[in-house]
Amino acid sequence: MIRLDKYLADLSIGTRQEVKKYIRQGRVCIDGNIVKKADTKVDEQIQKVSFDGKELGYEAFVYYMLYKPAGVVSATEDKKETTVLDLITDKKRKDLFPVGRLDKDTEGLLLITNDGALAHRLLSPKKHVDKVYYAKVEGVVTEEDVRRFAEGLSIGQGEEASPSKLVILKSGAVSEIELTIQEGKFHQVKRMFEAVGKNVIYLKRLSMGALKLDETLEKGSYRLLSKEELEQLC
Ligand code: URA
Repeated sequence: MIRLDKYLADLSIGTRQEVKKYIRQGRVCIDGNIVKKADTKVDEQIQKVSFDGKELGYEAFVYYMLYKPAGVVSATEDKKETTVLDLITDKKRKDLFPVGRLDKDTEGLLLITNDGALAHRLLSPKKHVDKVYYAKVEGVVTEEDVRRFAEGLSIGQGEEASPSKLVILKSGAVSEIELTIQEGKFHQVKRMFEAVGKNVIYLKRLSMGALKLDETLEKGSYRLLSKEELEQLC
């Protein structure tokens, strides 16, 4: 059971003050009856709440898959830059955040949610959730690099990258690779390649655990996770 004003504010109908006003104005119904008290308790599992005649659906947690484009920052707000949350134009909740950070110039899969427990499970290195990246790397990536990544290597500032799986897709002046890591240290993939004397020039996240980037999404667009995707993830 939650308070009616919280229910409405959680769904981004307005701020807590605004929704209190809407309730007083008689614009909100519970099970078809106008309710004018903001502290009325709603059973969000059973009762039907409507605002201006439109029925609302309350879900405690929401999950969006965003195809993050380059040029936006993985933050909830920023004074100067466009954030990944600015791209979610029909937010169902106001307490959303990105699960892990992708660099401004990195593209690909980003989960946006308000489910902190799930975010923790996906990000904690102790949970060993695979994150798969595709990268273009300046220089010839070699079997020696594969071996060093498999052993784990120092990435500077006293930090170590744990053993990871590097697959060479194409080796040349610009190599193409797929890398699976279970951590998310700051600039981790770029620093791992720097540690073997190479420069990542393009980086894209393909998957996080069971969740794969939906390549039919346009860059910069998003959709809610399907029931199956959510079940696999949880
Ligand atoms: N590793 C990086 O270097 N950058 C990212 O955005 C993600 C992983």
